[in-house]
Amino acid sequence: MSGTSVRPRVQLPATARPAPDRLLFVNAAQVVTCDGPARARRGAELRDLGILAGAAVAVEGGLVSAVGPRDALERAHPEAARIDCRGMVLMPGLVDSHTHALFGKPRHEEQELRAGGLDYMEIAARGGGIHASVRDLRARGEDELVALALPRLARIASHGTTTLEIKSGYGLTLDDELKMLRAIRTLAATVPLRLVPTWLGAHEIPLERRGTAAAREAYLALLEHEMLRAVVGERLAVFADIFCEPGVYTVDESRRILRAAAAAGLRLKLHADELKPAGGAELAAELGAVSADHLGAVSDAGVRALAASPTVATLLPHTLFFLGKPSQAPARALIDAGAAIALASDFNPGTSPTINFPLVLTLAVSQLRLSVSEAVLAATVNGAAALGLAQDVGRIAVGASADLALFEMDDVRELPYWSGDRRCRGSWARGKPCHQYELGVP
Ligand code: NIG
Ligand code: FE
Repeated sequence: MSGTSVRPRVQLPATARPAPDRLLFVNAAQVVTCDGPARARRGAELRDLGILAGAAVAVEGGLVSAVGPRDALERAHPEAARIDCRGMVLMPGLVDSHTHALFGKPRHEEQELRAGGLDYMEIAARGGGIHASVRDLRARGEDELVALALPRLARIASHGTTTLEIKSGYGLTLDDELKMLRAIRTLAATVPLRLVPTWLGAHEIPLERRGTAAAREAYLALLEHEMLRAVVGERLAVFADIFCEPGVYTVDESRRILRAAAAAGLRLKLHADELKPAGGAELAAELGAVSADHLGAVSDAGVRALAASPTVATLLPHTLFFLGKPSQAPARALIDAGAAIALASDFNPGTSPTINFPLVLTLAVSQLRLSVSEAVLAATVNGAAALGLAQDVGRIAVGASADLALFEMDDVRELPYWSGDRRCRGSWARGKPCHQYELGVP
C-alpha cells in the first residue's frame, strides 16, 4: 500500500503565454460544428454533427465570431493570427460533466481486491473505497491538493477536454469539504480549462457518523444546514450532488438534502441507480435536477421518468468497465424513449481512474452501442447541457465561446476508433490555449 506517500511531483506553470485576441483556424479536414439548438439534443437530433469541409473559424475576444468558407473568412479577417489545422479535425472542446478529479493518493490496491472477488460495496464496508480517499484527503492541505491536481488537469486537457466539472466529496466534514471547494476555486483561477464546482458533501455517510441513527441524523443535519450555508455563503459551488444508492443515501434523505440545496440556490445533480435500482432517476426527474448520473441499474420507470423530463441522463461507461461489471446503462433504451444523454469520464481514484475522455467515447460506441454522432454530441453540447452551459460551450457557432479541440485524424469517426490513443494536438477554452502539442500556435 502506498499510504500517504503520494506527493505532488510536478508544478506546472499557471498559464500558457498570452494568446492573441483574434484567431483564424484554417485548413481543417473537417470542422465538426455540433451546431443546432443550444440545449440537449434528443432522438433524431442526435444524428447530425454539422460537419463542414473547407471551412474556417474566426475567434474574437474569446468567442466564435464567424464560421464559413475559408476564402471569405481570410478576406474578412486579415489581421487575425492564423492557426493552421494541418488537415486535422477541429471540433468543440470535450465537456466532461462528472469528475472527482481532486483527490490525494490513487487506490490501485482495490483493483486487485475486486479481481479477487470483492465488490465495490464490500470494499467500502471494510473502510476502503470512498472512505480510504476521505482519510487520505483529510490529512492533506489545500495547497497540496491544488498541486496534485495541476498535472492531472494538464493531462486531461491533453486529450481534448476543455470543460471539466469537479466534485468535492472526499472531505465529509465542514472544514474538509470547504478545503476541497476552495482548492477547486484556486484551480479554476489558475488553469485555462473551464472548471465547474459541485458540492458533494453527501458522497458517503462518514465512518464516524455511522454508529447510531442519531449520528447519521446529525450528519444529515450538518449537510442540510451548516455545510450548505457555508458553501453557498462563499459561492463555492454551482451544483449540489448526492450518492443516492442502497447502502449510502436513501431516496428520502436525498430528497431532503437536494431540496434544501435547491432552496439555497444550487442546481442539482444525482449519482442515481449506479449499482442497484432504487428510484434515483425518478427522484432526479421529480426535483428537476439538471442531470442524473450513472444509471447502470436504472429501472424502466426511471427511463420513462427521465425521458419525460428536462434532466440529462449522464452515462459513465468507463466506470462500469473498470469495475468489471458485466452490463452497462441502457443507453439505447434511454435514447429511444426520448431522454437526453450525456457522456462523462467520472474520473476518480476508485472506480474510474482515466483522464482520457476519447476512451469514454470508444466505450460508448462499442459497449453502449451509440453511433459516433450520438457519442460526440453526448460529449459536447449535451455534456454542456448537463452543466447548464449549452449556450456557451459544446458547439462551434457564432456567439459561442471559443472552446475548441483539434484532433490528428482525417475524419471525426476516428475519435472513438483509436482506442486509448492520444490524438489531441491542441485545445482552447475562451480562445486561450489549454494544450498545445507540436502545433506552433501563437
Ligand atoms: O461516481 N459512486 C460514487 N462516487 C464515485 C466513486 C468515488 C470513489 O470510489 O472514490 C463514482 O463512481
Ligand atoms: Fe461520481
